[in-house]
Amino acid sequence: MRPKSVKASATETSRLMLPTDANQRGYVHGGVIMHLMDEAAGTVAIRHSQRPCVTASIDRMNFFAPVYVGNLLILKASVNFVGKTSVEIGVKIESEDMLTGKRVHTNSSYLVYVALDDDGRPTSVPRVVPESKAEKRRFREGRERRRVRLEMLRGGGKSRG
Ligand SMILES: CC(C)(COP(=O)(O)OP(=O)(O)OC[C@H]1O[C@@H](n2cnc3c(N)ncnc32)[C@H](O)[C@@H]1OP(=O)(O)O)[C@@H](O)C(=O)NCCC(=O)NCCS
Repeated sequence: MRPKSVKASATETSRLMLPTDANQRGYVHGGVIMHLMDEAAGTVAIRHSQRPCVTASIDRMNFFAPVYVGNLLILKASVNFVGKTSVEIGVKIESEDMLTGKRVHTNSSYLVYVALDDDGRPTSVPRVVPESKAEKRRFREGRERRRVRLEMLRGGGKSRG
């Protein structure tokens, strides 16, 4: 499998926030933002692996600032780190007031996806080649987060019910 660049699968998407996304005071529901984040990150995982992927984990998500109806939500997603069958995607979310152009960083999170073969079992994904300074930093940090995650899973964080 040929290694791939981060750029090859990175995406930037945007969506106008509508009244149906919000509560009666005009604040967009956190769940709407999480849904869009999963969609953006899942797209990158599939593009990178060129396989169907499932969400294995989502790291802690903080809401730094509210998003309002009428804001444009901008989601930037790219591969940070790749294991054997799993891919960590980082998503940065900003909301833009389109009348002023002002952008606010509202959320960031890391999501892990696992690529599946035709029988629904984890299958190998191409390695990622970080190129820029930022990509190399994200790669190192992603590798460390993976180490911590696996340690937590081994420590009993993984429950199969
Ligand atoms: C994710 C899933 C496929 C992993 O299956 P599994 O039998 O645990 O597979 P393995 O133990 O062989 O692990 C496969 C990879 O997943 C990673 N992984 C498994 N559980 C993980 C978790 N909770 N967080 C992060 N990575 C995880 C492993 O580290 C491994 O990565 P690597 O190959 O890069 O080293 C399985 O748990 C699953 O199907 N979960 C449900 C997914 C789902 O329904 N998501 C929501 C809808 S898309």
